[in-house]
This record gives sequence, C-alpha cells and structure tokens, in this order.
Amino acid sequence: MRVLLLGSGGREHALAWKLAQSPALDALIALPGNPGIAEYARCVPSIPLTDHDAIVTLCGAERIDLVVVGPEAPLVDGIADRLVAEGIPVFGPGRVAAQLEGSKLFTKELCRQHDIPTAAFGRFADAEAARAFVRRQGAPIVLKADGLMAGKGVVVAMTLDEALAAVDEVFAMGEIGTEILIEEFLEGEEVSFFCLVDGETVLPFGSAQDHKRAFDGDEGPNTGGMGAYSPAPVFTPELERRALSEIIKPTARALADAASPYRGVLFAGLMITAEGPKLIEYNVRFGDPECQVLMTRLDGDLLELLHATAAGRLDGHAVRMRPEAAITVVMATRGYPGDYGKGSQIRGIAEAETVEGVHVFHAGTKLDGEKLLANGGRVLNVTAQAPNVEEARSRAYAAVDRIDWPEGFCRRDIAWRALAR
Ligand code: AMP
Ligand code: GLY
Repeated sequence: MRVLLLGSGGREHALAWKLAQSPALDALIALPGNPGIAEYARCVPSIPLTDHDAIVTLCGAERIDLVVVGPEAPLVDGIADRLVAEGIPVFGPGRVAAQLEGSKLFTKELCRQHDIPTAAFGRFADAEAARAFVRRQGAPIVLKADGLMAGKGVVVAMTLDEALAAVDEVFAMGEIGTEILIEEFLEGEEVSFFCLVDGETVLPFGSAQDHKRAFDGDEGPNTGGMGAYSPAPVFTPELERRALSEIIKPTARALADAASPYRGVLFAGLMITAEGPKLIEYNVRFGDPECQVLMTRLDGDLLELLHATAAGRLDGHAVRMRPEAAITVVMATRGYPGDYGKGSQIRGIAEAETVEGVHVFHAGTKLDGEKLLANGGRVLNVTAQAPNVEEARSRAYAAVDRIDWPEGFCRRDIAWRALAR
C-alpha cells in the first residue's frame, strides 16, 4: 500500500515509525514531514496543508491508497470530504464530524440531544446576559470561546471576580458575533481516551494522561503538552466500559444517523467524576504527545487498522496494546510556550536511543547539512517503554540526560500522578 501522511510533528513521526513496521507498506510519503520522519518516508515540503487541490494531484501522481491526517486543521477544513470525493480513502473524519473538535457548541448540543454525560452548560451571545448567568451560578465556573482556538479559548475561573473578567476576555478572543459557553466546573482526574471509529464500529485504542503546564509540579503556563504516559491507571476497565457505552458509542451512532459518519480516531478528554466519566471535549485526531506513547504500546499492524477504519471495515479487527507502560518526555526550547529562539544544535540522539526501550521522536527539528537544529517550541519527544511506569520513567530520563542540547528544557516529573498511586 502507498500511504500519504499529513503533518510534521512528533505525533506524525510516531505514526510514520509504526506504519513503517507494516509488511503491507510499499511507500510512505509525508507532507511536509520532518527529519525524523524522513528516515521512513519521502518528505514533500513544498505543498501547504491548506492546498487541497495540490494534495489531490499529489495523490494521483503517487498512486496513493490511503491518506493519514495527523493534525485537526485540515480535517476541519474538509480535506477528508475532498479526498473521499476523489475516491481516495482517508483516515480522519469529514468536515461535519470534525466539528466535534472545531466547534464546542456542536459537541455540547450533540451531548444534550443524546444524553451524553458532560458538564451542564449555557450559551450566550452577549456579555451582559453571560455576566448575569455567572453571578447566579457562582464560582468555580468554566468559560469557553467557540471554534478552533488551539486550546487557548478556555478559562477555568475559581472566583466570581475571575469569572466576570473572563466573560470579557473570552468575548474578545472569539470572532465577532461569536457565542460563549459557560459550563459547570467538573471535579476529578482527567484522562485521554482514544478509539478508532469506522462509522459504525468502535475499537478502544487505550488511555493516556498528559501534562499541560510548562513546569514541574503543574506550574507555569499552559502548553500543547509536556509529556504523557499510557495506560492511565485511573481509567479502570469498568470506567472504560462506561465511557464506551455512555459517551463514545452514542456519539458515533448520532453522527452515523445524521449521515456524517465519523471515520478516524476519536480522542475524548474525560473527567473522572464521582458520578463516573464525563466528556470535557473531543479531538478528531491523535493527541500530541499522547500518540507517541500509544504507538509505542501498540502490538500489531497500524496500517491495517488505519486502512480498515478508512474503509469502514473495522468489524472483526482488534487493537492489541502491550501491557507495558510507555512514557514520553517533551524536550522544548527554553522560553516555550512564550518567545524562544530557533537554530540551536542538538547532539546525542543516537546515544539516547541506546537506552533500552527508548525512541526519540522529532517534533520540531530541521537539518542543516549533517547538523540537527531545533526548529520549534516542542522539539523532541523522548519516549520509553518498560514493564512498569517507574522503569519507563527512569529509562526516559536516562535517555534525556544523554541528549546534548543546552538550549532545551523538559519537565522532570512526567507521570507523577501514576507514580503517586
Ligand atoms: P478544553 O479545551 O475544553 O479541553 O479545556 C481545556 C482544559 O480546561 C481541560 O483540559 C480541563 O483541564 C479544563 N476544563 C475544561 N472544561 C472543564 C470543566 N467543565 N470543568 C473543569 N475543568 C474543565
Ligand atoms: N496533548 C493534547 C492534545 O493533543 O490535544
């Protein structure tokens, strides 16, 4: 099979690494790819992911059998509908189903219509009504702008003053005429739950927990994710069963019934509350860096699973995850998620990979001749697997310590929640 992979981060490097292990893979082409992905794929840097015409042309020229979409933006833009219309199978949902990530209001209304457990909410188009509602409800309370905000459109307000200030802030962040969502504050532990969905059939792909804050002890600003591990010990088989039957399956059913079947990976951000799992949000792609730990644990042929998902033929397949734990530590450029420099040299990746069970995925690097340079905020994902999470963590940090990159930093406490149990 000839596969086109869209994206350039650590998530896509992990997908490329796992796809390359499939005996059915004849060729892998990545758009745009990165120096890590280039080890398994031919990288085509010249076409932007927004140029759907050029992507269709590339698929024809390369006789592509499957397109795997890494990030959400092309899905929300309708790349999957376009490719499917051209007869090209795609791993990733169409524009309507991608609204699960693209529009928080779409998701909340779907939950309301189908009794899917989520935080109670109200929607408001003007600031005065929103402030009155906030005063009635009191704090803590959660305010969200609609639309793809790269995780920035959410304020969890712990006091009434904070909440009232956030009303103005969230209206300012959204587009003109936008609505805001005001939600009940959910208390509990968060978990990321991944499922393959082929329209009808739902196959669980494992759980993970990530670390959003930049610094140890969950301090500092929010980031795209500073590390992750899988499985999440809080997510017991009983909780998984409930999440499947109360949240994921009703969502897949609702979209199929509305003639916009979901094909791809459905990433549910869940809060494990005293009453059971509740949906915080959906994403329509693998998490980054959660994907890196899931791929490390996957025992079996990723290409076969992704192709069966795209073709609507998941029934009869199984996702087998190794019982071992996996952890990934994100190494970022000093300054991230604020301003940071680019172009510092990284050495020692080969030495890091001599630690048992370790792979280093590239998230934001570039090559300058033989030199590997940092080229982004999140730069490397040092990923380790081991029989248990303690051992996986010590392997990952042993590998981190072999990487010679003075301009980088990482958290030293990834997986603290799992280890605290
Ligand atoms: P979202 O972009 O919807 O995932 O929200 C970002 C983060 O805000 C989540 O990962 C949670 O930590 C937090 N959050 C969102 N909604 C709620 C809620 N209703 N109750 C408590 N925390 C929330
Ligand atoms: N690591 C969180 C995400 O990919 O959305």
